[in-house]
Amino acid sequence: MDIFVVQGGQKLKGSITVGGAKNAAVAIIPAAILSGDICRIENLPTISDVEVISKILVQLGAKVKRISSSVIEIDSRELNSTQVSQELARNMRASYYMLGALLGRFGHARVPMPGGCYFGVRPIDQHLKGFEALGAKTGLRDGIISLTAKDGLKGACVPLDVVSVGATINIMLAAVRAKGLTVIEHAAKEPHIVDLANFLNSMGADVRGAGTDVIKIRGVSKMHGATYSIIPDQIEAGTYMIAAAATGGDITIKNVTPKHMESISKKLMEMGVEIYEYDDSMRITRSGPLKACNVTTMPHPGFPTDMQPQMAAAMSIAKGVSSITEGVWENRFQYVEELKKLGVNAEVQGRVAKFTGVEKLIGNHVKATDLRGGAAMVIAALIAEGETYIREIYHIERGYEQLIDKLVGVGAVIDRRTVPDDFYSEKTGKPDGCNADCGCN
Ligand code: EPZ
Repeated sequence: MDIFVVQGGQKLKGSITVGGAKNAAVAIIPAAILSGDICRIENLPTISDVEVISKILVQLGAKVKRISSSVIEIDSRELNSTQVSQELARNMRASYYMLGALLGRFGHARVPMPGGCYFGVRPIDQHLKGFEALGAKTGLRDGIISLTAKDGLKGACVPLDVVSVGATINIMLAAVRAKGLTVIEHAAKEPHIVDLANFLNSMGADVRGAGTDVIKIRGVSKMHGATYSIIPDQIEAGTYMIAAAATGGDITIKNVTPKHMESISKKLMEMGVEIYEYDDSMRITRSGPLKACNVTTMPHPGFPTDMQPQMAAAMSIAKGVSSITEGVWENRFQYVEELKKLGVNAEVQGRVAKFTGVEKLIGNHVKATDLRGGAAMVIAALIAEGETYIREIYHIERGYEQLIDKLVGVGAVIDRRTVPDDFYSEKTGKPDGCNADCGCN
């Protein structure tokens, strides 16, 4: 298996270009099949989630041609199946967007329950509520979600009981070709919701209000192909902002929408970080010590839950006691136990984690518990003294394109190493026969 080996202590300096938004890409690729035509999607991130969702389309009969590392062409004219396979669906959360896309195009769909990061229970009741409101019959048996709308889909009002990105996206996908008006109330407002709406409209749909609490969708009978470029990844950009702040470096992040970063920028400035905003880039630097702060995660435009592990890594060396209250997921602190192995002083009580700043972190063996928890390990390793070995890096590579290259490009010392699968003992999480000079304590 592959691991990252990080030599801490470097201040990041230089510039990093952010890729396309993962959470927009994994919704826009399924949405392309609603056109029943050829779509060209640009500024895609080179991550395994994009590969997997593209493979799902191919398995259903679509043709996906890779034009370059960030551009694909999707021809869904011959798409002829509405049954997604288990082995692909369970690799990621967003495979369930095939429900809305297939239901919207064909009036039926069979998709296995999705995979993705584990933060406790991740229900799909709001998705099913939306599909039923549009006239679909829903079923869940042996882990397969089935949808059938034998009389076609009719527009409806769908008041969400909880602000859900996934449910908002899935209902949009099903509604664009339904007969009549659909109104989604308490809709999610993330940048990737707006990006999806813009893509759907470029294919001839009629979606208004994306980015507000109320999205109105007037069904259209026909849609057509389009060429579309995905927005920059807000979370990737935020991750590098925090890496620069934590290492006391000075980096310019290119291909970013400063407006999308507001909640993150505000918190970092509260911690004493200097941020300069330009049209499509931001410069992050720090001269004094990091100061403690308190964060509560909430749906956009609040502080993003997908940024809280990375923020925890910075809080670990901030002067004073910081706290994170997780307002979205029931259990998103699994990574804290791994941070503690690097010397982080933290305690978790339910949805609140407290971090007491320490002078320094020390390198050790840790694992990526999930996508953003893995990013937190990398940031903590960049500030730790000595070497840190990070395993289960597949979590990280699902959602961050060329993470190592981009960090090495601004002075980080990280390399990827292949070790035998039994290199780590299940019991201790350390290398078998671990000795003093391997860097763990
Ligand atoms: C999306 O997950 C993102 N994933 C997550 O990012 C992100 O953390 C989350 O939105 C919140 O922003 C993708 O876009 C692929 P939700 P999703 O539905 O759609 C509850 C990352 O790191 N809920 O907005 O699954 C749910 O339990 C990943 O990129 C219901 O109760 O999240 C949670 O408490 C991790 N019933 C809250 O809503 C439902 O039917 C928000 O979930 C659906 C959700």
